[in-house]
Amino acid sequence: MAPHQSVFKDEAKLDINYIPQQLPHREKEHRLLMEFFSFILRCPEKMAQRVIITGDVGTGKTVLAQHLGASITSEANKRAIKFRYVHVNCREYRGSLQPILHHIVTVFRPNYPARGYSVEEVFSTLMQVLDEDNAFMILALDEFDSLIEKEGSDAVYKLTRLQEMRLGKPQRLSFIFILRDLKVIEQLDASARSTLQHSIISLECYGKAQLVDILSDRVSMAFELGTVQEDVVDLISELAFTETGNARFGIELLWRAGKYADAADAGLVEPECVRMAVSSIIPGLRRSELVSLGLHEKLFLLAVARFFKENEQAYAPLTEVEKAYAIVCEEFGEEPNSHTQVWNYAQFLSSLGILKTVVATSTVRGRSTQVSLPSIPAFELEKELSASLEVEKGRA
Ligand SMILES: Nc1ncnc2c1ncn2[C@@H]1O[C@H](COP(=O)(O)OP(=O)(O)OP(=O)(O)O)[C@@H](O)[C@H]1O
Ligand SMILES: [Mg+2]
Repeated sequence: MAPHQSVFKDEAKLDINYIPQQLPHREKEHRLLMEFFSFILRCPEKMAQRVIITGDVGTGKTVLAQHLGASITSEANKRAIKFRYVHVNCREYRGSLQPILHHIVTVFRPNYPARGYSVEEVFSTLMQVLDEDNAFMILALDEFDSLIEKEGSDAVYKLTRLQEMRLGKPQRLSFIFILRDLKVIEQLDASARSTLQHSIISLECYGKAQLVDILSDRVSMAFELGTVQEDVVDLISELAFTETGNARFGIELLWRAGKYADAADAGLVEPECVRMAVSSIIPGLRRSELVSLGLHEKLFLLAVARFFKENEQAYAPLTEVEKAYAIVCEEFGEEPNSHTQVWNYAQFLSSLGILKTVVATSTVRGRSTQVSLPSIPAFELEKELSASLEVEKGRA
């Protein structure tokens, strides 16, 4: 049989550094940022702006700032305004201000010597360079908390006030400060704090439906048509939602699941590929947890594992799993328990995080419970459970 083609059309669209053209569900924040910085396109020398972007892990802080940078740069180019957006991750410089400033100067003057200058000297060189080039800049200081933790109030004060001391000269430098948690700002003394807290944009964690939109967008850019079904996007979104609404986690899962699909030459990203991807990122199954389950909980879970091994669906109706459970019971010489008990098993296993249950409403069937196996590969689960049940039934 001829090998399948890769499921990927353009893997680079899932790269962490890729900046998409559109940021679904961040349009409002993008518009607000454009408003804050629109003076750069009208009267750049008259003003400077400081904005804080805050939000939990993977809520799009970095990509939103970069998007803004790209939008302003392209608008400024059209108007022949010399503008640079410079994005620096402070953590890469261990939060030290001097090397950060040095790096920024080298964006304009690549041969600027690395050592021997104080923070004040490098800063004044930077302003001089901007004056010489008649250039304006937004400096985005990402993971700014590492700078606060390392350098404290003094550095923050210097950063924001040195420019203000250039009396009578044009304003050239605006800031975007990016940090996960505003609490670190409370560590600063009052004057440093007051220089920062101008405008704050808080990014809420994504909901599941929002993650579905974001991930569907990436699927259409990165994958061949039809290789990632809707229910797989749904499953990944659910996982990313559980992981505090983290879009990065979702995109990473998508990429890994695609890699597993290619490795298996599947030609399609199946739910099992997603489960393998998850278990490669977070440890899924602890054996001790399985051993401590009751006999019928194990039988039920084995039925779930078999169902997903045999069916390429992300969600299984509980009624189908119940049928599979009856067959498993017969195999192990057990009388199957009632529907209510089966429902209890599903709830209990879901509370352990092994399964997930959702109630789906359909016009045809009304409300029905659906079961998914989010993070443990079905074949591994089946292997473990079969072995454990053989021992329990004294067959091994
Ligand atoms: N609204 C969105 N539309 C499209 N892609 C998004 C969106 N939000 C986030 N992403 C993508 O999700 C990933 C994580 O986003 P980003 O790196 O901006 O998060 P962050 O808030 O900076 O996280 P951290 O606190 O860990 O630095 C990136 O690949 C980014 O492109
Ligand atoms: Mg970031």
